[in-house]
Amino acid sequence: MKAGGQQAGSPWDECFEAAVQLARRAGQIISKALTEEKRVSTKTSAADLVTETDRLVEDLIVSELRKQFPSHRFIAEEATAAGAKCELTTSPTWIIDPIDGTCNFVHRFPDVAVSIGFAVHRELEFGVVHHCVEERLYSARRGHGAFCNGQQLWVSGETDLSRALILTEIGSKRDPATLKLLLGNMEQLLLAKAHGVRVIGSSTLALCHLAAGAVDAYYQFGLHCWDLAAATVIVREAGGIVMDTTGGPLDLMSRRVVAAGTQKMATLVAQALQPISYERDD
Ligand code: IPD
Repeated sequence: MKAGGQQAGSPWDECFEAAVQLARRAGQIISKALTEEKRVSTKTSAADLVTETDRLVEDLIVSELRKQFPSHRFIAEEATAAGAKCELTTSPTWIIDPIDGTCNFVHRFPDVAVSIGFAVHRELEFGVVHHCVEERLYSARRGHGAFCNGQQLWVSGETDLSRALILTEIGSKRDPATLKLLLGNMEQLLLAKAHGVRVIGSSTLALCHLAAGAVDAYYQFGLHCWDLAAATVIVREAGGIVMDTTGGPLDLMSRRVVAAGTQKMATLVAQALQPISYERDD
């Protein structure tokens, strides 16, 4: 069966199949490198890490896709860190995070994933996320459902914050004012009697857990478009909501998101949050 678990027929089938193959290939490289010695450098802050494996995997994915689809554009985490423009135009565009959960990868904490999203006319068409260690391949194409290793995914139908399990991520800023807002937001949700708030170190995989109905909501300030693109399609195709923290439509470049299984849950979480400002991706 195809990774997406459904019949072919969209104009982007070839791109989708290429993404699946490359995510699997990259996953093998990453899971082998997980237990080996790594050379680690920092980017925007002491908590924003990169290794030679991030760069190697990104080069592999981008060079293979460029060969197959020479007219397409690319937004990729490490190229952007090196100064490439991060701009979503109407052209077919690949949005790539070679290792989401780099800090986990550095520490051998197993939640690491390859994330490959694809947008056309600024609309997300498909997403492929590969949990490298557990060999779980999450994928979704717009209008065709979301799947994990061939099994269809559905979000939870929870609407009550006092029965919710919520995921979030810390982000890279660690100044006292940001931490106060970050912890204040968690506190608000716990005071609203949410069952729990969890942090796993990978925004992409957090969203995949939401798509699988394992948690009821997810929010974050400070993530990037490459953490979000692929998993957004997966959550939406599993029946979930992905939106801006203000309650408006998602802006992929805004570095903030609320996602949930239901509109009611998304709205309740968004209303509990104080904004944390981050520079846009574009
Ligand atoms: C990061 C992870 C982390 C989140 C950051 C992301 P990276 O991605 O998803 O959990 O808190 O905001 O940028 O750097 O590991 O690809």
